[in-house]
Amino acid sequence: MSDNRFYITTPIYYVNDVPHIGHAYTTLACDVMARFMRLDGKDVRFLTGTDEHGQKVEQAAAAAGMEPRAFTDKVSQVFRDLIPAMGYSPDNFIRTTEPRHYASCQALWNKVLAAGDIYLGKYAGWYSVRDEAFYAESETEVGPDNKRRATASGAEVAWVEEPSYFFRLSAWQDRLLKFYEDNPRFIAPQSRRNEVISFVKGGLQDLSVSRTTFKWGVPVPNDPQHIMYVWFDALTNYITECGYPDTSAPNWKYWPADLHMVGKDIVRFHTVYWPAFLMSAGVAPPKRVFAHGWWTIEGQKMSKSLNNAIAPLALVKEFGLDQTRYFLLREVPFGNDGDFRRASMVQRMNADLANDYGNLCQRVLSIIAKNCAGSVPAKGPLTDADRALLDKAGGALAAVRDRVNDQAFHEALAAIWEVIGDANRYVDTQAPWTLAKTDPVRRDHVLWVLVEAIRRVTLLTQPFMPGSTARILDQLAVPADGRDFAAFDREMMSGTALPAPQGVFPRFVDPAAPAQTPRQVRKKA
Ligand code: ME8
Ligand code: MG
Repeated sequence: MSDNRFYITTPIYYVNDVPHIGHAYTTLACDVMARFMRLDGKDVRFLTGTDEHGQKVEQAAAAAGMEPRAFTDKVSQVFRDLIPAMGYSPDNFIRTTEPRHYASCQALWNKVLAAGDIYLGKYAGWYSVRDEAFYAESETEVGPDNKRRATASGAEVAWVEEPSYFFRLSAWQDRLLKFYEDNPRFIAPQSRRNEVISFVKGGLQDLSVSRTTFKWGVPVPNDPQHIMYVWFDALTNYITECGYPDTSAPNWKYWPADLHMVGKDIVRFHTVYWPAFLMSAGVAPPKRVFAHGWWTIEGQKMSKSLNNAIAPLALVKEFGLDQTRYFLLREVPFGNDGDFRRASMVQRMNADLANDYGNLCQRVLSIIAKNCAGSVPAKGPLTDADRALLDKAGGALAAVRDRVNDQAFHEALAAIWEVIGDANRYVDTQAPWTLAKTDPVRRDHVLWVLVEAIRRVTLLTQPFMPGSTARILDQLAVPADGRDFAAFDREMMSGTALPAPQGVFPRFVDPAAPAQTPRQVRKKA
C-alpha cells in the first residue's frame, strides 16, 4: 500500500568542508522523522549523502592539493562517519560520484530535452561559486569594498560568459503556481511558501543548466564539452536512489518523496527548479519541502574566519549524544533561526532532562526497587487522579503524531513534557513514600500508574533520544517487540521482574561556569 511508505531525504552535503552543527541539525530532524515513522508502522526510506561535483568542490580539492576524486572520497567519509556518532539511522548514503547517479542524471536530462525544455544558448550573467547559484543583477549589490555580492546570502558573485544549455523555466510559471495552489502542504513553513509564490509570480528566467569552463561534473549527453549545472545533478540524487530511470526498480515504490528536509538557503532549488524539472520529465514532484532555519553561535554567524563553527562531535563529547539531539530540537521552534548558547544547553540538560524526566524515572523506579520486590506493582481500581494522568499519557501519541507530521518537533516535545510535568505533580500529590507507611496497597496502585505513564512517555521520546530511552525501556522490562507505537495501548504487566534502576540523565555541572555563590535565602516574613 503506497500510503504506508515514507521517503525522507536530507540535502546532500557539499564536500568542500567538514560538517558543523548546521549540517548535523538537518540530518537530525530527518532522523527523528524516520524513526518516528518506523515506530508508527511505516515502510521508511531515509536517504542522506554527499554532493561532490561543481566548481566549489573542485576549488576545495585544488586548495587541498588533491585530485577531486581523492578529495571527495576523503571528505565524504567524514560525513559518513557522522552517522554512528550522531545516532542517525539512514537506509542509504548516496554520493553523486556514483555511476548509477550519472546514469540517472543523463536519463533525466534526455527526458527534459525530449520534452523541448532544454535548448542551447549562451549565459552572460552573475554566478556565485559559494552558493553554486546564478543571480540576476537585481539580486546582487556592490559593497563598500567594491565587491558584488548576492543580497540574500552575502556570497561574492563573478561575471560569467559561456555557451550553456538552458532549461525553459520561464514556461513553467503558471504550472508551478497551480501546483503550489493544488498542494498547500508542498512548501513549509508558511512564510517560505509565501516567499516562493511571490518569487514565481514575479516572473521566471530560463535557467542555465550546463557549464563549460571546468570539468568536475556529469557530462551532458552527446555534448561532453558541457557538464551539468551542479544543482541539476544534485537534485537528481533523490530519484537516483529510487532507481530512476528504471521505474520497475525495487525502490521506485518510494517515489514521490514524502519530505525533502532542507535549510532555508536552498528552498528555491527544491521548490521551483526541482518540481519543474520533474514535471517536464513526466515524473511526479515530491510531496513536501520543509525549510528549517539557521543556527548562529552565541549570537554570531558560524564562519571560517571567526573559527566558531561547532563540530557536532564536540557537543556530543561534552554533553552527551541524546542531550545534544534533545537540545537542538527543543530549544528552537523548528523553522525559525536559532542561537546556540552554551548556557541554554546546560539549562535544558539539567531542567528538562535531569530534573523532570530523569528524576521522574529515577524516583519511581527506586521506590519500586525498594518496596515492591523489584517487580511491576499491582494495578488497582483507578481513581480520578489516576485516570487523568493515564488519559493524558494515552492522548500524547495522537498529539505528538500530529506535531511531528508538521515537523513541529519543539511542540511534539512540549506535549511529551506536559505529561512528564503532570506525572511529577502526581508523584508529589500521591506521595507514594508516605503511602508506603499508611496504605501499601494504594502505594502499589500509584506506582503502577506511574510506570505505565513513564512507559508511554518513553515510547514517544524514542525517536529523539534513542539510546537513553532504550535504557529506560530496559529498566521497565519492556520487551523488544513492545517498543513500537502499536504497543502504545498495551499495559505494564504487574509482577514482571524489573532490573535494578540506574540514572539515565545525569546533571551537568559546568566546569566553564563561574563558581556559584550560595543563593541568598529570603526568609518569609
Ligand atoms: O546546500 N544552520 O549543501 P551544503 C542550520 N549541496 N543549517 C545549516 C547551517 C546553519 N548555520 N549551515 C548549513 C548544499 N546548514 C547543497 C544541497 S541538495 C540536492 C544539495 C544546512 O553543504 C542547511 O540545511 O551547503 C543547508 O541547506 C544544508 O546544511 C546543506 O549545506
Ligand atoms: Mg551551503
